[in-house]
Amino acid sequence: MRYIYSPTKKDILQAINLDKESFTNDDVGTLNKCLDWLSVNKHIYIMVKKWNKVIGYCNIVPLKDEIYNLFIEGKYKDYMLTHEHILPYIKGNSYNLLFMSIVIEKKYRDGMLIIQFTNKIKNKFKKLQNKGIKIKNVIVDAITDDGYKLFTNTFHFKFVIESKGGKILQGQLI
Ligand SMILES: CC(C)(COP(=O)(O)OP(=O)(O)OC[C@H]1O[C@@H](n2cnc3c(N)ncnc32)[C@H](O)[C@@H]1OP(=O)(O)O)[C@@H](O)C(=O)NCCC(=O)NCCS
Repeated sequence: MRYIYSPTKKDILQAINLDKESFTNDDVGTLNKCLDWLSVNKHIYIMVKKWNKVIGYCNIVPLKDEIYNLFIEGKYKDYMLTHEHILPYIKGNSYNLLFMSIVIEKKYRDGMLIIQFTNKIKNKFKKLQNKGIKIKNVIVDAITDDGYKLFTNTFHFKFVIESKGGKILQGQLI
């Protein structure tokens, strides 16, 4: 397994294929949207590859406060986000994060990969913290039972409010 933090277009397209295995309609990413978000912040993805194929990915974005607050009220969805709502990481600043998505290819949902993957996610944010980037709160819009289980059991996020088709949960990554 190899973890990458600066995906290529090809990697993003493979991640979108993973979305198609688990999500429908607007919850499936598009290349243009992903490139639009990356134009503001290059540090939003973690991908895991096996034999040069993306088998899992997550994306986590720092949001402007006004958009974060709309999510907290259950009034906003990930697919509505553009580069205007996302912040770059700047040393000394504090951020509210949206855990936008996490997917692992079905055959690797064996309990092993997710443990390694969650550790990589935590390590990334510990490193950012050590560089002076502070994280306030993290939310996720859990749109599947798998997501609800992962974020409540493993990350210990707490329920905030129902969203359109999901549940907003809030917590900490580290
Ligand atoms: C969400 C997703 C990535 C979670 O991966 P997963 O392999 O299914 O992980 P699970 O949360 O079921 O965890 C597997 C097991 O490992 C355990 N585990 C997970 N992380 C752990 C950790 N860091 N330390 C110890 N145990 C851990 C869990 O408790 C669970 O144990 P259980 O099966 O006895 O309950 C995966 O289910 C997926 O890709 N689903 C489709 C996409 C999706 O719904 N994404 C979320 C959208 S909000």
